[in-house]
Amino acid sequence: MLALVSAALTPDVVEALIRERSWELLRVEQIGVAVADLTVTQRHTVRAVIVEAEPIGDELISALSRLEIIACLRSDPVNIDIAAATARGVVVVHTPGRNAEAVADFTLGLCLSAIRNIATTHHGIVSGDLTTAQPPRGLRVAAGDAIWRPDDPAAPVPYIVYQGRQLSGLVVGVIGFGAIGRAVARRFAGLVREVHITDPSVPAEEIKACGFVPVHLSELLAAADVVTVHARSSTRIIGEPELMQRKLPHQYRAGRRPGLRRADRCAPVRPPQGRRA
Ligand SMILES: NC(=O)c1ccc[n+]([C@@H]2O[C@H](COP(=O)([O-])OP(=O)(O)OC[C@H]3O[C@@H](n4cnc5c(N)ncnc54)[C@H](O)[C@@H]3O)[C@@H](O)[C@H]2O)c1
Repeated sequence: MLALVSAALTPDVVEALIRERSWELLRVEQIGVAVADLTVTQRHTVRAVIVEAEPIGDELISALSRLEIIACLRSDPVNIDIAAATARGVVVVHTPGRNAEAVADFTLGLCLSAIRNIATTHHGIVSGDLTTAQPPRGLRVAAGDAIWRPDDPAAPVPYIVYQGRQLSGLVVGVIGFGAIGRAVARRFAGLVREVHITDPSVPAEEIKACGFVPVHLSELLAAADVVTVHARSSTRIIGEPELMQRKLPHQYRAGRRPGLRRADRCAPVRPPQGRRA
């Protein structure tokens, strides 16, 4: 079974395909270019294609007359012409949730960064926007110390303004309880007060059994301190009108330089309590 492979495969998968399935793997940069370079006789020997993001359309599928299977290493095989493959009896397989753990890691990182102003203050410190080179008179500093601006004691203290909020008191709202939403919810489970979930396709009992709180979208938007969206939908789920129902945290609009301003669609969406601004 000859397979054209443009996707990156791990050694164990290569080993399994060769030893256990008796596949012959031909590594190529691009399936389309490789097929164009093959003779008609060689094309007839190709029975499988393993691809990631490259478009596989009707023309390519019909050029491989003995093709049996297209393996698309994406969670959603949007680059494959499924109708053309189906019409020719070619099976299409894909990898649901393939990057779910990675996406969840980044989601957690971005949320922590937003809640605790980590990226904002890092930028403010390295750009010098939040610091001064000259320490106030009488203050002893070591070489390399960052000294907060402003020097005016009446002005807001960055240490207070950017301290963010404690995770343990927050409610995180997850929209979409699929591969990524579940992985995100699991990560937050031990960190925050409650994780609220909305997903019309998942029974409330299943969400409860996982230790989370099933809610409707409107309830989630009203209660959550952080909203994270992981739904696969062709219609709009959350946008300007929903976000505008909630007042955004002062610090996301108060940057003194454009570089410190945050997009106003950014979570968290509940204003911080008891903050000096
Ligand atoms: N998995 C990945 O590698 C990856 C990487 C980047 C981006 N994405 C994108 O992230 C999104 C989620 O991916 P996934 O792998 O978790 O998908 P998934 O198919 O496993 O889960 C999607 C969930 O969204 C729910 N949903 C649909 N409409 C909804 C609505 N109106 N409100 C609430 N929930 C709704 C579905 O019921 C389903 O449970 C997709 O749009 C996907 O394209 C996925």
